[in-house]
Amino acid sequence: MNVLHTAVQTQGSWYPDREIQAKVRRIASDFQVRSDAALEALEVIREPECSIRSLVAIARRDPRLTTDILKFANSALFGSRARIASLDQAVMRLGLTSCKNIILACIAGSMLKRPSQPYLEFTSVLWSHSLLTATTASNLNLELSIGLQGEEYAAGLIHDVGRLLLRLAEPAKAALADPMDFQESMDLIVRENQELGTNHATLGAWFTDDMRFPASIVSSIRFHHQPEEATESLCLSALIAAADEIANHYQRRGSLIGYDIEQNKGITLLEDHGVFDAREKLKVSLGKVMERAFRDVAESK
Ligand SMILES: [Fe+2]
Ligand SMILES: [Fe+2]
Repeated sequence: MNVLHTAVQTQGSWYPDREIQAKVRRIASDFQVRSDAALEALEVIREPECSIRSLVAIARRDPRLTTDILKFANSALFGSRARIASLDQAVMRLGLTSCKNIILACIAGSMLKRPSQPYLEFTSVLWSHSLLTATTASNLNLELSIGLQGEEYAAGLIHDVGRLLLRLAEPAKAALADPMDFQESMDLIVRENQELGTNHATLGAWFTDDMRFPASIVSSIRFHHQPEEATESLCLSALIAAADEIANHYQRRGSLIGYDIEQNKGITLLEDHGVFDAREKLKVSLGKVMERAFRDVAESK
């Protein structure tokens, strides 16, 4: 089954133009970025009556998915204390929502980690940024008691998938627009729009929508540079924007020195939408949050 080729696409008004859609579909198909089991899991996850049993049955057919689920289930990110050795144990312990989100994170990870010549350096930098954004989002979620159950990790991993797609679809133009220098301001979006006629947030959102990722994750990808414009799943979009900005600062400078949490619009937005005292808390604890985020990055390798 290949969703990208069989889905009847309703054209959203914000979608990139059909020429780049067709190019990206061809590339995604050539690179075989998804296994059948992962695609089927995405379909099942969207069903309102999705059951743990059906997810486990699908995951069992894909050894890599099974290994990844166990790895996530045993990580501190999902609050694991005792070692989980089997898939059944993992899903019992985690519950349906976390299981769904772990599967989404596994799919996101398998797309981004795929080594693709001649883009090894690019994919390695993008993967390090994606992973740090994911672990930062998860640790901010815990620190600020936002209450998400793993979707922030999956969304953090995949938030910049559009940068990979642009690099594969239009290598020369994408390299001009996006030097991968951990400067993801609106200037990057403007340059992408000028060079490529679309940008990585829009393209990544369209692509994951086409793959049938949940709407909340699609929305967080689309709005991770303008979270204030998100009309749904605003908290997730704001959290990913916040984590992305902190991860970029850290990866640019190698530390939090000079970082001003007051300037982080994702955190301000979270506070405006009910996350109490977020800025004041993080003025004290952001160093510890990032220590834990780096520990989780090390554990994920
Ligand atoms: Fe981005
Ligand atoms: Fe990013």
